[in-house]
Amino acid sequence: MTLTLNRPAAEHATVSDTGKTELVVGGTGVTELAKTYGTPLYAYDAGTFRSQLHSLRDAVGERVDVYYSVKANPNVEVIRVFVEEGAGLEIASAAEYVRARSAGGASDRILFAGPGKTPDELDYVLSEGIGEIHLETEEEIVLVSDIAKKLGRRVPVALRINPIAAVQGGSMRMGGKPTQFGFDEENADDVVAHIEQHPSLDLTGVHLFAGTQGLSANTLLAQWAHGIDLARRMAERLGRPIKTVDMGGGLGIPYFASDKPLDLSVIKAHAPQMFADAAALPGLRDAKFILEPGRFLAGPAGIYLARVLSVKQSRGSTFVILDGGMHHHLAASGNLGQVIKKDYPIVLANNLNAPLQEGSQIVVGPLCTPLDTIGRKVAMPTVNTGDLVAVKQSGAYGLSASPIGFLSHPMPAEVLVEAGTEPRVIRPRGDFKQPVTLLP
Ligand SMILES: Cc1ncc(COP(=O)(O)O)c(C=O)c1O
Repeated sequence: MTLTLNRPAAEHATVSDTGKTELVVGGTGVTELAKTYGTPLYAYDAGTFRSQLHSLRDAVGERVDVYYSVKANPNVEVIRVFVEEGAGLEIASAAEYVRARSAGGASDRILFAGPGKTPDELDYVLSEGIGEIHLETEEEIVLVSDIAKKLGRRVPVALRINPIAAVQGGSMRMGGKPTQFGFDEENADDVVAHIEQHPSLDLTGVHLFAGTQGLSANTLLAQWAHGIDLARRMAERLGRPIKTVDMGGGLGIPYFASDKPLDLSVIKAHAPQMFADAAALPGLRDAKFILEPGRFLAGPAGIYLARVLSVKQSRGSTFVILDGGMHHHLAASGNLGQVIKKDYPIVLANNLNAPLQEGSQIVVGPLCTPLDTIGRKVAMPTVNTGDLVAVKQSGAYGLSASPIGFLSHPMPAEVLVEAGTEPRVIRPRGDFKQPVTLLP
């Protein structure tokens, strides 16, 4: 018999049969998840994927079409949750295209961005059908034009722009400085002229993406305003309206103790009006405004759950050794683009409310490298062998962004939990004979 406590979504908890308060994912407690599906384990709450999408749509208003950036979590069943909610899909490889289609994504609701698309990839997605290709290099202009000619049709393309002195804010900047992403804004006129020389390219859109993990609503609003202005100028330059204005992803979620969640009420106070004003501009009257977040939509829905193998002391420090680590969750170890390594939210998942132990503990994985440290200064209750530790905010850039082959540990299972139904295994666990399988 369990009792669900009334807590905010990210803090769902239940009192287990043992009387301890434990973390819950989509209505199922972690003890049961670990017992049924084993550890290490990724567990995702389908309801949180949906509520993230709905809260973003509510904040930005109906003129914005939200696409899910597949790279954040490319499990086909995760993509399917977003497709079923009507989201479009942003992909960065032909393999992501295949996954997007397997998840039920309509070809005209898929757009393809990325600085290095191969001829084979472009040929494949164009032959199968795609909403828009986002051009990022001169070579790509010629390549896409040649494939379009071969296929005997015009191909909708957008120009990806690396903004000037971008409105910044994300911890990992992708614009406003020299970068491999898109064309420098100062050269946009020349690039537009080049694209216009290719009759098989239908220049329909503009794409601007300045960075990821943005937690400031005002910075995001400024980036989007810049995207709108860029699109307005491009429409003037072309002498015809622009059809798509893609303002990228980059909406952040709080990971670290000092992070404040993105204030959607600030976005809601300004964004709908901003897009309504933009849609009144002559060059943007038919335009569709796109946001393509990954982290914001997927991150809060997932936990990475691991079992404690041992707890040991070394020269005054407590090490909690887990059966999972950076090979499954590189980002939590701080080795995926973090300059200063800070701890993800880590909890003793099977005993949330036990009193905190004095001082902090070091949470590590089983790999033979000090890089495999998941938490450096974790405040937790006293931990025992057999306990369950969860890394929260792990639904995005988790498994697929990790060095899964390193030390040949078996891949963890992934389960999708839907409140009121049995959890579903959406990736089977690997084993010693076949530790690493292709992503399902
Ligand atoms: C073109 C593009 N769109 C969307 C995203 C998703 O970014 P985020 O997960 O920060 O929203 C990325 C991330 O790198 C990207 O490169």
